Amino acid sequence: MKKIAVFASGNGSNFQVLAEQFPVEFVFSDHHDAYVLKRAEKLGVKSYSFELKDFADKAAYETALVQLLDQHQIDLVVLAGYMKIVARTLLDKYEGRMINIHPAYLPEFPGAHGIEDAWAAGVKESGVTIHWVDSGIDSGQIIRQKRVPRLATDSLATFEERIHQMEYALYPEVLESLGIERLAK
Ligand code: GRF
Repeated sequence: MKKIAVFASGNGSNFQVLAEQFPVEFVFSDHHDAYVLKRAEKLGVKSYSFELKDFADKAAYETALVQLLDQHQIDLVVLAGYMKIVARTLLDKYEGRMINIHPAYLPEFPGAHGIEDAWAAGVKESGVTIHWVDSGIDSGQIIRQKRVPRLATDSLATFEERIHQMEYALYPEVLESLGIERLAK
């Protein structure tokens, strides 16, 4: 059975959706106080956190991550709101085995504010994209993407919520398509 680890920096709602449907070997957060760690505890999923500032540099931080992934024999790293750019140390070892979810229809609106940027641009539709991770910002090969409309009656909050709902539907589908087995019911 293929093993997955989820990386999340903050809230962790995508992690929660995944952990309710798939066995997650562990979740990692780069912030000790991230809400995702509380979600993991409630769900009984193992968690780890360490912060970049506790290491000499990003290479040392990512070396610790590689060790953690290797120890757990992780087949697929699932980024879900992991807000750091993945650098060479981690990519050298896990490129081709790491995916990310982005709350816009790439290559439209890459970066940390995909939802707000699409909203500010006044688009009629945006979307959700799941892609392989490479050294760029949201630039890796696209696995799957879906459009999400922006309605005339939307506020930023309702638009955002519709995008998140699409994320929660699409990420499990993609994991399944990559051969990750669901939890037994
Ligand atoms: C999601 O919209 C994801 O696409 C983006 O960051 C957000 C994380 O939300 N990269 P959550 O932490 O899963 O609630």
